[in-house]
Amino acid sequence: MKEKRTGFATRLGAIAATVGSAVGLGNIWRFPYQAGDNGGGAYILVYLLCVVLLGIPIMMSEFIIGRSTHKSMKGAVQELTPGSPFKIFSYVGVLGALLICGYYSVVCGWVIEYLWNSADGSLLGHTPEQYGDMFGALVGTPQRCVLWTLLFLLLNFLVLSRGIQKGVERMANIMMPLLFILLIVFCVNSLLLPGSMKGMDFLFNPKFEDLGWKGVVDAMGQAFMSLSLGVTCLITYSSYFNDDSRLMKDAVTISALDTLVAILSGIVIFPAVFSFGLEPNAGPKLIFEILPTIFQQMPGGVIWSVLFFVLLFFASITSTISLSEIPITFMIDEYKMSRVKALIITAVLMTTVAVLSALSFSTLSDVKLFGKNIFDFLDYVGPNIFMLLGGLVTAIYVGCFLKKEIIHNQLTNGGKYRSSFVQPYIIFCLRFIAPVAIIIIFLYYTGIF
Ligand code: PHE
Repeated sequence: MKEKRTGFATRLGAIAATVGSAVGLGNIWRFPYQAGDNGGGAYILVYLLCVVLLGIPIMMSEFIIGRSTHKSMKGAVQELTPGSPFKIFSYVGVLGALLICGYYSVVCGWVIEYLWNSADGSLLGHTPEQYGDMFGALVGTPQRCVLWTLLFLLLNFLVLSRGIQKGVERMANIMMPLLFILLIVFCVNSLLLPGSMKGMDFLFNPKFEDLGWKGVVDAMGQAFMSLSLGVTCLITYSSYFNDDSRLMKDAVTISALDTLVAILSGIVIFPAVFSFGLEPNAGPKLIFEILPTIFQQMPGGVIWSVLFFVLLFFASITSTISLSEIPITFMIDEYKMSRVKALIITAVLMTTVAVLSALSFSTLSDVKLFGKNIFDFLDYVGPNIFMLLGGLVTAIYVGCFLKKEIIHNQLTNGGKYRSSFVQPYIIFCLRFIAPVAIIIIFLYYTGIF
């Protein structure tokens, strides 16, 4: 039996939930470590360009597809362009979401351990080197890693089983603004550290020689990851939007807030990295080494640290909820499954990927895919292949194959608002910039760059 598709209760609720999807570990954990690995300033510049030239237009495209049909990708493409082969990409989205959510939940598990240790007072009071060792001990202990990951997934699916409206909306409404305020407090704190300006210089002074084509592709993948693009997540979410939501304004607001959170996270992390004499290119462990070092020199460090990890937990769970919603809505729409059944199947698949990823620093550390362990492989392939290609294909679909009236109607709510330069701008980006991006990526992967 097909269940009735419920909308978000308010327009603000819909935006808050979409911001909840966008803002997560991608901004706070992945963005700083990627920036650190790719030389800082130049990476950030390319990242910003990617948000403006690709991110916002593709976000609008996903909104157009979802809201015009109130269906997830496959059904939507069938309705908008009957017989079009683009519907195949709905499977890419579902697979991408399962893989990304799988490894992402492992990082969420680490967040819970850090929250736990903050609360019982054992996190603070160590040297930066000891924080490196503590992180190594956590990921190297299979039971700990798997248990936290499973606990996280259990919570994730508990929220989902209560239905999209109650679960997602209520949490996102309260937690996102709080996280924002906390990041600003931490920024001020980091900027007041001795030697903090070296970190700002690293972050905002572009040195293109440190970037390379790898950095360009990473920045593109990260922009898509952070804005939740390319795996049909925003198509799924916007299929729940009400018809009076304003797609242009919402896409710009959401992208701006998301980018702001990423930049603020960079301003929290890098001044501290340089002030404490640490290395900016520590990879995925970066924030787990730096943040405790920052918290412990703040008055009332324990409280800051608990509060931060609680909020990071909520930012993460609103993202995993949106990722889980992709296969769930897909199965409900395509196979007329009940929500409960779709939820159980999704939970089993995601848990399997998550457990394998959680073990990739210990029991399964010898399992290598293209020279990377399972976790690092998924962290690479998810954003840099699934999201990038999914997003760029969406761009070409909307830019070249969707009727102009549909785009216009959706952007202006049937002529109620003016789209002025926005429509030509996004069509230009979708038709011309997206294919150029695909060519760059293709040349990069085939080793020509
Ligand atoms: N955007 C989320 C983040 O930055 C991750 C995500 C990707 C969520 C894709 C949904 C879909 O953490």
